[in-house]
Amino acid sequence: MKDMVRKRIRRAALGLATFALLAGCGSSGGTDNNGQISAGREIFMAETFGNEKFFGDTLGLHTVLNNVAPKDAVALGVQVDISKVPAEVAAVMTGSDLAAKDAALADPAITRKLIKAGAVIGVKGFYGSAAATDDTMTNAGITCGLCHVTVKPTTFRLTAGDTALPIGEPQLNGVPNARMDAGKVLSFTPFAQQNGLSATLAGWGPGRFDIRALNELDDGVDNPTAFPPLWNFPELQAHGYALGWDGMFKGENALASIAEAVYDLIMHGNGSFATASGAINPPALAFAPRQAVLDRLQDNPAGVITRDRLLQLQAFLQSITSPAPSGFDAAKAAQGAALFGGKAGCSSCHPQATAFTSAGRHADITAVPPTGDLAGGIKVPGLKGVGLTAPYFHDNSAATLPDVVNRFDVRGNLGLSAAEKDALVEYLKSL
Ligand code: HEC
Ligand code: HEC
Repeated sequence: MKDMVRKRIRRAALGLATFALLAGCGSSGGTDNNGQISAGREIFMAETFGNEKFFGDTLGLHTVLNNVAPKDAVALGVQVDISKVPAEVAAVMTGSDLAAKDAALADPAITRKLIKAGAVIGVKGFYGSAAATDDTMTNAGITCGLCHVTVKPTTFRLTAGDTALPIGEPQLNGVPNARMDAGKVLSFTPFAQQNGLSATLAGWGPGRFDIRALNELDDGVDNPTAFPPLWNFPELQAHGYALGWDGMFKGENALASIAEAVYDLIMHGNGSFATASGAINPPALAFAPRQAVLDRLQDNPAGVITRDRLLQLQAFLQSITSPAPSGFDAAKAAQGAALFGGKAGCSSCHPQATAFTSAGRHADITAVPPTGDLAGGIKVPGLKGVGLTAPYFHDNSAATLPDVVNRFDVRGNLGLSAAEKDALVEYLKSL
């Protein structure tokens, strides 16, 4: 089955991808760094680099999106940028006719309207011709924003009562969209259904994606991983932090490089990676991956994924810092800090002086050890902002911070009391 998928995908990758210059998304708060950051934010939110060739032409994502009701889409983690909602839809949703609001939320035509207006975060619709009179997509691609952006929800009065919906202002603050069930969305595509992949994809669950599935990095293992937060990179990288849960990418321009790998290998955009014709020099690797990964072939030397745009994206990623902590008990946090560096032994892997990260990989932290390409272990994540990024661990196997602390308590036989665990949790929330 996997072979068949791989072959089909290779065929799709050989086709010449069309490149659409994408419309902008909202203005930026500042134009620091000569506009590099705002240009990068635009790429992050709106650029597909031709991946509609894969998500649309190969998988058929547009046929799912053309027919999904807004309420079903938001249940799958889809989010809407309130500033781009067309006026007539906004009028219904903010009006007093409750039945009309219910009807709008059940109508796939509203989803199509929202996508065409660019209001659905991380999704880019493509249309047959400019003259097309309806909003039916002929193709659809995805952007980084799908998994790595959240919105502030807005509460709407519906017949069912006041309901918070993920329709709001995009928060480009690095917090991942833990509700995005990208595997389930893809499980509905004609490609997944025809190739018997739907059950696997639907099994990933929200906030996880197997970046080694549906592409040539396939390691033959079903290994969905959590969307990590995207923040504090300059500080983390200054202390040797390597990117990816496996911690493979490091060194100068590693962020631009991982972005190129995501666009080219994982999203099937139109470019090449890790070859002489790649836009960015391959990054330094913290360890050598399988030969097949090293051998990844160039698929299109004349790719549209260019160095200047990857560096803009990198500048944007480098500009994000974790939000200031709030909502913790300062006295307990101080006790927790002492435990963190003492009895609980957390500092041996998460030293404060090195942004809470350290070199090395560990395969014995989660209850089920990682397999496939992750069998070598998981890198030590930084912990700043960790109060905002539940669930935890590379496989999202700890729902809350108390669950994390319990895991380490059992693993290390630490003998922490309930009060000590509580103090550690307050300390983590204060980072
Ligand atoms: C379908 C959801 C999804 C989309 C879309 C997506 N990512 Fe990710 N991202 C992930 C997952 C899952 C991981 C963890 C992968 C792993 O290492 O197992 C990740 C990891 C990362 C990391 C590593 C962070 C760290 O601290 O190690 C960076 C950087 C990143 N993504 C940037 C991007 C960029 C840039 C884009 C757009 C080109 C993008 N992502 C698109 C899901 C997504
Ligand atoms: C042996 C090294 C080691 C020790 C000791 C250690 N950690 Fe970790 N920590 C890790 C690694 C590796 C991960 C990632 C594991 C995974 O995702 O499978 C991690 C993950 C975490 C996470 C989840 C981060 C996220 O973004 O999902 C938290 C929170 C955390 N550790 C806190 C602690 C606390 C609190 C202690 C002390 C009780 C501790 N760690 C002790 C290595 C360690």
